[in-house]
Amino acid sequence: MTKRFLLLVFSFLMSFTGFSNDDIWGPTGHRATGKIAENHLTNRAKRKIDKLLEGESLAFVSTYADEIKSDRNYREFYSWHYVNMPLDGKYETSEKNPKGDLITGINRCVKVLKDKNSTVKDKRFHLKMLVHLMGDLHQPMHIGQKEDKGGNTIQVQWHGRGSNLHRVWDESILSKWNMSYVELADNAKRLSKQQVKVIQKGNVVDWMYDTHKLTKEVYASAKVGENLRYRYSYVYFPIVREQLQKGGLRLAKLLNDIFC
Ligand code: ADE
Ligand code: ZN
Ligand code: ZN
Repeated sequence: MTKRFLLLVFSFLMSFTGFSNDDIWGPTGHRATGKIAENHLTNRAKRKIDKLLEGESLAFVSTYADEIKSDRNYREFYSWHYVNMPLDGKYETSEKNPKGDLITGINRCVKVLKDKNSTVKDKRFHLKMLVHLMGDLHQPMHIGQKEDKGGNTIQVQWHGRGSNLHRVWDESILSKWNMSYVELADNAKRLSKQQVKVIQKGNVVDWMYDTHKLTKEVYASAKVGENLRYRYSYVYFPIVREQLQKGGLRLAKLLNDIFC
């Protein structure tokens, strides 16, 4: 009786907390972005990357940064996964994380990869990080507010179970669709050369602001405690797909410039 009661209380509390260890634009999202990027590399970049990664694909290495995230030896890279900014604020004038953020992380990766004096080991590490971080740059809640940890502390329900707004955007919308990363990449929207060029235009900070427009929309999309269901996926899955594609195209742009 006591045990059953405790279990009941526990499940009840869990359903409200939405406690979760995972804080990742799920593996499928990152891999799809890597795969889409691969489809837009120049032959030269493809060859150089293949050599550096010893045959591993961009899709395969895209999850590496999350694999090392909880390892204390890699603690210095934790804050590279996100950047916090007020919804109506500017990156340039907002408080910076002294440990670094998504923007400084991406810039660091590009710098190491462009540097003739970097070791192969360093280049390999920073290439894997870059593939991942370009995915994170396109997840609206990775550019969220500091006070709610990019939506991690905004409790909502996902099909009746405890979750939070960050997690819904990291993985739930995508996983409900049950598509592999290859299927997602293969079904990316057909774009003209001109459309690709428009998406690839600009720099890392411009791309962050492009995602940040969606961040505002996502914060307004759900009330605390709301039970998000099919309608939510139906409305936002197309946006998730578009973000995966933009991430892939922009990653390809950076890599084609680096490995030219
Ligand atoms: N993950 C962990 N902390 C975060 C934050 N402050 N913003 C976004 N994502 C996070
Ligand atoms: Zn996340
Ligand atoms: Zn990440």
